[in-house]
Amino acid sequence: MKHRLLPALLLAAVVPAAAQHGHATLSNPYTSPDDVAAGGRIYRSHCAVCHGLQGKGDRGTDLTTGMFRHGANDDDIYKTVSEGIPGTEMPGTFFNGRQLWQIVAYVRSLSAGRAAEQTKGDPSKGLAVYNAKGCGGCHLVNGEGGRMGPDLSRIGERRSLGHLQMSVTKPNENVLPQNWSVRAVTRDGKKINGRRMNEDTFSVQLLDANERLVSLSKADLAQFEIDRNSSMPAYEGQFQGGEFDDLIAYLASLRGPEANQAAE
Ligand code: HEC
Ligand code: HEC
Repeated sequence: MKHRLLPALLLAAVVPAAAQHGHATLSNPYTSPDDVAAGGRIYRSHCAVCHGLQGKGDRGTDLTTGMFRHGANDDDIYKTVSEGIPGTEMPGTFFNGRQLWQIVAYVRSLSAGRAAEQTKGDPSKGLAVYNAKGCGGCHLVNGEGGRMGPDLSRIGERRSLGHLQMSVTKPNENVLPQNWSVRAVTRDGKKINGRRMNEDTFSVQLLDANERLVSLSKADLAQFEIDRNSSMPAYEGQFQGGEFDDLIAYLASLRGPEANQAAE
């Protein structure tokens, strides 16, 4: 036991340092349904008075649009809610780390899934853009496509308009922990890269470039690095006319196989 524990402990100390090389910002560690519910309780007692019970805004801004003028990353929203916005009615709060993250999770939930009503594009034209740009080489929609990126079959139900737009134009800005990638080198010199699926103290599971699920024991690794940057290319400036809005409208329309079939 002793000889296995030591390398694992060393790795545990090394990983966060390696992870800091990425420029991506911090994502919310508290996003479970219970966290969202807890955030909602605080929201109703402390925020609804200005932002409205449904988040549609009143004295405060509309929080359902998914667009945040004061920064749209999780840690920007964290800072806004923690420190307030000087010179405006938006007050700072006294909540601690975990509760604040739960509020952020709730604020995010107010705009998740509303992207479809907010887009001005045409989803059927967007499907053509999606195919032309080769998005399906890395993403699954209803079981078709590649697996290097996350499955997009229900992306419209889960994400806000702002998040969808940022994901395509600036993928590095807000990569979710389940989308981090892993670079590992085994003690016998084999290099393995892939998408990080799961990780605990002793092992890490990843999906390699051939879409095989690989489980690595950290004790067998000479090097192990988590990269929080996206392996998705940035598409900023690569669309013409209404193409971008159409593509986003298509993504926003994806709500699972049953709903997607009905729309086609
Ligand atoms: C007294 C009224 C008031 C209360 C209470 C209040 N807000 Fe605000 N909030 C505002 C106003 C006004 C703004 C817009 C400030 C500006 O940019 O002019 C704002 C802005 C924000 C923003 C930034 C929006 C953007 O576009 O970037 C967020 C996020 C936010 N509030 C969340 C909250 C949360 C969460 C709470 C409860 C913990 C809360 N607010 C409580 C009035 C309030
Ligand atoms: C080379 C592979 C690759 C290509 C090509 C690619 N993506 Fe991605 N995409 C990824 C990876 C990996 C992620 C996860 C990391 C991240 O969030 O940026 C991702 C993330 C996303 C997300 C965010 C998913 C979430 O859970 O919020 C969206 C939306 C998206 N891609 C849409 C597209 C669209 C639209 C195109 C075509 C214009 C495209 N992707 C092309 C690999 C790719």
